[in-house]
Amino acid sequence: MTSQLSSLEEYREAYKRSVQDPEGFWAEQANTFSWIQPWEKVLSWDFKSPDIRWFEGGKLNITVNCLDRHIPEKGDDTAILWEPNDPLGSIKSYTYNELLESVCKVANALKANGIEKGDRVVFYMPMVPELAIGVLACARIGAIHSVVFAGFSAQALADRINDAEAKMVICSDFNNRGAKNIPVKQVVDNALSIGCPSVRTVLMDRNTGDEVVWNSEIDVHWDEQVDHQESYCPPEPMDSEDVLFILYTSGSTGKPKGVVHTCGGYMVYTWYTFLNVFQYKPGDIYWCTADIGWITGHSYIVYGPLLAGATTMMFEGVPTFPDAGRFWQICEKHSVNQFYTAPTAIRALMAQGDEWPDRYDLSNLKVIGSVGEPINEEAWHWYDKHVGRGNVPIVDTWWQTETGGILLTPIPGITDTKPTYCSYPMPGIQPVLVTQEGSIIEENNTEGLLCIRFPWPSIIRTTYGDHERCRQTYFSTFDNMYFTGDGARRDEDGRIRVIGRVDDVINVSGHRMGTAEVENAINEHPAVIESAVVGYPHDIKGQGIYAFVITDGKSSDNVQTEIRNVVTKEIGPIAKPDKIQIVSGLPKTRSGKIMRRILRKIAANDTSDLGDISTLLNPDIVKEILQGAQ
Ligand code: WTA
Repeated sequence: MTSQLSSLEEYREAYKRSVQDPEGFWAEQANTFSWIQPWEKVLSWDFKSPDIRWFEGGKLNITVNCLDRHIPEKGDDTAILWEPNDPLGSIKSYTYNELLESVCKVANALKANGIEKGDRVVFYMPMVPELAIGVLACARIGAIHSVVFAGFSAQALADRINDAEAKMVICSDFNNRGAKNIPVKQVVDNALSIGCPSVRTVLMDRNTGDEVVWNSEIDVHWDEQVDHQESYCPPEPMDSEDVLFILYTSGSTGKPKGVVHTCGGYMVYTWYTFLNVFQYKPGDIYWCTADIGWITGHSYIVYGPLLAGATTMMFEGVPTFPDAGRFWQICEKHSVNQFYTAPTAIRALMAQGDEWPDRYDLSNLKVIGSVGEPINEEAWHWYDKHVGRGNVPIVDTWWQTETGGILLTPIPGITDTKPTYCSYPMPGIQPVLVTQEGSIIEENNTEGLLCIRFPWPSIIRTTYGDHERCRQTYFSTFDNMYFTGDGARRDEDGRIRVIGRVDDVINVSGHRMGTAEVENAINEHPAVIESAVVGYPHDIKGQGIYAFVITDGKSSDNVQTEIRNVVTKEIGPIAKPDKIQIVSGLPKTRSGKIMRRILRKIAANDTSDLGDISTLLNPDIVKEILQGAQ
């Protein structure tokens, strides 16, 4: 059996089988891998608790399947190809042999520093190869990695370290990002000074080599810890359902939650989807521009591609440095075959003019992908015309941190594509649209709430340290279904288009944020009495952040700048409101709930019909807000 689909018939056949006999279907896929001990039961599940187990009783180590398994045939093939921020800087590459050795040395260094199976290790690093190596080193010894995007603030980092009770933080000294040299270690120092009692060691990689403040009680150098280590580290046997990693993501309420993925199912699903969605062939150069701080980087820079024995490229920099042609210059330079990026990047580059992609040879591209937010029609067509040159399939992939891998997508060359539609379910995925009341909508040409009614191998298992929150958020809205939080439409032929979130989560430049999280940050400003945050349509970012804020009147003229600074401090610059409107009140229902529906319309400048406002506690406030709207 080959797992890579090569025709529409095969897709249909695989899909049918995956629904009629999911256990047989996934067992066959899982048999590709090397298992230390075979599983006893392919699947047991109960969405009520939830309690979902794949390949129970099986023992494995995911790094054996990412690395060791490829050595006999692909030891000298390139596993990771790294392109630096500086276009004149030296590229780095690691063959599978070299990557295995590097991972083993770091794994041994982690052990030497007291890290054991089950311990949590937080990463706060830019896009350097050491990040991928470090993550795999954790998996090698069964330590749980939690990567925190290096744009988050010290406070946000401290919150994540503390929630996971991490024993170690791995960081870089600085981050080369465009024309900037951003301190990284200093943010870790600041986080620790806020208070992270569980951290015993900070392992720092010298990236730029610039000077940092050193605390010899807790800080150790990567080179000094790693270089002298043995070049082999035996893989820790892991149960299929042992935790592989935690990744924090925003929800509609409170603090970000730690999404938990486990070893066996995540391995099988990320590999299967990588192979099929990108139609990767031996010798291809695959490039995903995401950051490893997000799920896309976990599943489709590190794990999926390496499980498939691919060459995966990592890029340190940004799309617009030194100019807006950088992505396309890199595609030409490395003869990239599969390119995977986010709509926000496409829109930003589109705004810079067609001449940038047109200038480069992009003829090696076979598949181009999009992920993270809805792609609008204009951006889809531009991507198709100027990057795909009209003859490369676009895979608009829909999925979430919680799903671990891609659930809805065209399969290039096999199923059709339609602008703004992520189209069809992968084999094993049973999507449904439901009404608010939870009844399944059977007919096509309709909209509804997107749910999945059967487990797939990489579905979220729990939210770290708070299982009830996982149940509440995803499994309690509708009986026996995983609720995605997204609204979707289905066209006359059954293709699905994901419209966006139906909860209080906004998607700003592909970064997921809870409006409550941003409000909590704003409310830290001493002059702020109350605030309400909503998303509004933004040409480049997809959604912008609009904050309505009530102050105590004693605030300074600079209050807006101060509020932005507070948000940067509490969360990071990605959460800074684009617009802040100071108001004297917020529209509230008689029970005191903020009517966000009205605020969303005002923020979107879509005020022709605000709906019934007569039931508000304070209908007059709407007029005031409308007058002051930006
Ligand atoms: C949105 C990113 C439309 C969606 C992998 C989802 C998309 C959230 C698409 C998850 C797409 C992601 N079309 N919307 N192709 N891909 N989304 O957890 O709202 O960072 O719920 O995972 O992004 O964001 P997350």
